[in-house]
Amino acid sequence: MSSIVIVGAQWGDEGKGKITNSLASCAEMVVRFQGGSNAGHTVSVSGEPVVFHLLPSGISVPGVLCVIGPGVVIDPVGLVAEIDEVRGKGIEVSSNFLIDVGAHMVMPYHRALEAAEEESRGNAAIGTTKKGIGPAYADRYSREGIPIGLLASFDRFEERLRAVAGRKNEMLTKLYGAEPLDIDGMLEEMRRVAERLAPHLADTPELVRTAIRSGENVIFEGAQGTLLDISFGTYPFVTSSHTSAAGVAPGTGVPPSMIGDIIGVAKAYVTRVGAGPFPTESFDRHGETIRERGKERGATTGRPRRCGWLDIVALNYAIAINGIDHLVITKLDVLDTFERIPVCVGYRIDGEETDRFPRNAEVLARVEPIYEEMPGWRASTHEAREDGDLPAEALAYIRKIEELTGVPVAAASVGASPHAVVQFAEIL
Ligand code: IMO
Ligand code: MG
Repeated sequence: MSSIVIVGAQWGDEGKGKITNSLASCAEMVVRFQGGSNAGHTVSVSGEPVVFHLLPSGISVPGVLCVIGPGVVIDPVGLVAEIDEVRGKGIEVSSNFLIDVGAHMVMPYHRALEAAEEESRGNAAIGTTKKGIGPAYADRYSREGIPIGLLASFDRFEERLRAVAGRKNEMLTKLYGAEPLDIDGMLEEMRRVAERLAPHLADTPELVRTAIRSGENVIFEGAQGTLLDISFGTYPFVTSSHTSAAGVAPGTGVPPSMIGDIIGVAKAYVTRVGAGPFPTESFDRHGETIRERGKERGATTGRPRRCGWLDIVALNYAIAINGIDHLVITKLDVLDTFERIPVCVGYRIDGEETDRFPRNAEVLARVEPIYEEMPGWRASTHEAREDGDLPAEALAYIRKIEELTGVPVAAASVGASPHAVVQFAEIL
């Protein structure tokens, strides 16, 4: 089978973009299947960091067709701005980019409602990216959403928007005491972006199925991470889409039987942005060292990321949910300076030891991690390109992950450059 899925095996920001981008040179197509502009995928293009929010991370690779699948929610104004920004960096976005007509749009009222909801949650706020993702998916499910394909019939779009936005203004003003949004202004802006996006709108599922059937390599690029999955993440501190591999079928129109290997991307440690339980979070100087060395700041919101040690219990849960065939461990070099590296191998919950990840976020918040300490290597791994280049302790760290998960590690990244990768096995 010539398709692979790249998913985050933690709470997002695992480096999916970098891995997708580097594998894209062996692929014909890269397809996003969920999420929206809450994603921040940083890719190094000609030595410069470029952050993609909606554009698939293969867009900088010539000859690769990039597709936004029907499972994604698209802020059309933000997408046009992103296209312009990316083009300004010399990256082509033309016939190499398609948007499925069935993807739903994120409108200004989604962002306004989310801001009002988050504020009214007070201490129980989720800490969302405020990109309108939750309300846009909620509208899709309550059949109040607007598919992007409707922009091609602007009169019908206008009729629909006036009806929906009118109801949203009622909610904003009467429920939250907020200002109503200017619907005429919204329509004017949408007229402008509709023209810009028109050449990219397409019916994509059959295209993707045909590519796979004819033996082309197709990469399904996930956004966020498994522990933020709407069904299997740490609810309610999750995002509003199926971030795990199961999301590929409904998010692209490609049946499960046509989906090949699942690649799980995990950092050599763990980070999380936003609220919610995080058993191995480090509040001391070690967490600070990880944050500084790993430049752990949100690519979408600029928030400092919470940092902690590798959590094998959570990783094994992500492996089970996704059916991960290969792991890619990123940012191994961030651990270069540590003398000892704790790895969480079990949980203690209310005095009981377990290796099972609790589904309930309240229980997860009570977890005391059980650590096993690995010796650090205290040497730079930046220049390593083969396993023989790695210090023995760094290689032992990778082997330990394989032993504790039973999943082979196909590669480890040791720097931001697309070449800073130690490859252990072929993926594509
Ligand atoms: P990438 O693709 C890390 C988090 C937010 C918040 C929760 C819900 O770069 O890995 P949302 O705006 O989605 O409703 O927020 O999910 N979150 C991410 N965390 N990486 C991401 O994307 C994220 N996208 C959303 O911080 O906790
Ligand atoms: Mg990110």
